[in-house]
Amino acid sequence: SPSDPDLVARARAAKERLGSKVFVLGHHYQRDEVIEFADVTGDSFKLAQQAAARPDAEYIVFCGVHFMAESADILTNDAQQVVLPDLAAGCSMADMATAEQVAECWDVLTEAGIADVTVPVSYMNSSADIKAFTGKHGGTVCTSSNAQRALDWAFEQGEKVLFLPDQHLGRNTAVREMGMSLEDCVVYNPHKPNGGLTVEELRAARMILWRGHCSVHGRFSLQSVEEVRERVPGVNVLVHPECRHEVVKAADHVGSTEYIIKALEAAPAGSKWAIGTELNLVRRLARQHPDKEVVFLDRTVCFCSTMNRIDLPHLVWTLESLAEGKVVNRIEVDKETSDFAQLALERMLALP
Ligand code: 13P
Ligand code: SF4
Repeated sequence: SPSDPDLVARARAAKERLGSKVFVLGHHYQRDEVIEFADVTGDSFKLAQQAAARPDAEYIVFCGVHFMAESADILTNDAQQVVLPDLAAGCSMADMATAEQVAECWDVLTEAGIADVTVPVSYMNSSADIKAFTGKHGGTVCTSSNAQRALDWAFEQGEKVLFLPDQHLGRNTAVREMGMSLEDCVVYNPHKPNGGLTVEELRAARMILWRGHCSVHGRFSLQSVEEVRERVPGVNVLVHPECRHEVVKAADHVGSTEYIIKALEAAPAGSKWAIGTELNLVRRLARQHPDKEVVFLDRTVCFCSTMNRIDLPHLVWTLESLAEGKVVNRIEVDKETSDFAQLALERMLALP
């Protein structure tokens, strides 16, 4: 639906008043009405880089979810303030790994005698606490666009990887991109004693995958792929690596949001694409590529409800408040957490 013209005008006016004081970052899963006001759009890797590259912007308005805003706060300087237009924009996957659970897991690995040879790799989609744990224990952060490079790096530092919190990205990268077998991977369930694993299983594993997943991408199924191939003959199936392993295996192409966008740009006119990622992005791609047939991989899957929390009214409220000198919804990570998390984030930014 078209945006309220009054709100559009207010957002524009507030942004103009703020000028170069404000920099608005927009993740590809954001609503169109919000993307319209983003100075830069990107996947979570590009947005982290962009946040770090704007030392002069007093305010970074992060149109995305909480863990992204935290990472931006960690990567920006002390004078800069990061704002999340709606504090309820969390991420269910990030919530699946708490600091207490991860500390307990590390105790389990220590008991099993493997903590010394295990390198933690945390997906960007995790809280600052988890990134700090990762930094403290010699590990790195990764995103869906550099997971393989992060794992290559980690296996140069140690023999095993504790991958958190997305089991699917971890498994898909290890098996699809790095030639490991499914038997090399075990799943650590934080709700079970010892993660539900025996000491022998832990010692034999190369990848210890945290039992987390994305509630949006987890809903695409093998059946979604089979049905779309029947419905749209000759279709290219392109999915995000947060999808389950059987979905990724059945797809033709797999990649981050930025990868998906570039694949569509490079695709010839007349080609057909079924895309398994968040719906705001898929709809935008369909609109931007009228010469191609772009369909959603599974019509029963919905938007990411927390990404969608950021809407035009929240953005207007945020920008108008900032224009009046009032900082609302600031995301601030405490110094100790931030220092260790920064280590892990900088290891990621330095990956070859
Ligand atoms: P990317 O932006 O890294 O593709 O991640 C997708 C995602 O789920 C962000 O929440
Ligand atoms: Fe989290 Fe999934 Fe939403 Fe991304 S799409 S913010 S991983 S719930």
